[in-house]
Amino acid sequence: MIKKIDHIGIAVDDLKKYLSIYRDVLGMEYLGTETVEEQKVKIGLLKIGEIRIELLQATSKDSPVAKFLAKKGGGIHHIAYQVDNLEATLRECEEKGIEVVDKKSRPGISGSMISFLHPGSMGGVLTELTTGQGSGIK
Ligand code: CO
Repeated sequence: MIKKIDHIGIAVDDLKKYLSIYRDVLGMEYLGTETVEEQKVKIGLLKIGEIRIELLQATSKDSPVAKFLAKKGGGIHHIAYQVDNLEATLRECEEKGIEVVDKKSRPGISGSMISFLHPGSMGGVLTELTTGQGSGIK
C-alpha cells in the first residue's frame, strides 16, 4: 500500500524565519510557497533527497495548524506517505478500524490528492496519505 515517505509537515509560527533557516542555513532546495485556503494554511515547501519538508503556517486563528501551535507550541505536525491507490487504501484502513479523518480524498498541494488518518489510530501521529508530488510545485 505504502510506497515511501512523501513529506514531513512541521508547524511553525513564522514561515519566513524558518524558511530562511531550512533553506539558507541548512541549504535545502526551496520549491515554493503555496496556500491551501480550505485548510487555512500557508506552506513553504523544501526538498531534501527524495523527501520534502512542508513548513506550515496558519493563515487564520481557527486554522487546524493554529490550534496545533497553541496546544503544542510547534513541532512535527504530520507525516505523509505516498500510496499507489488512495481511495483503495482509505477503504482498507476504514475496514481495519483505523479512524479516517477525510473519508473522501481532497486536494492537497502541488496537484496531489490527500487524506488524513486520525492520530488516535496512528500512535499519536497525524498521518497523511497522498498521491504524491503532482503537477503544481515540483
Ligand atoms: Co502534508
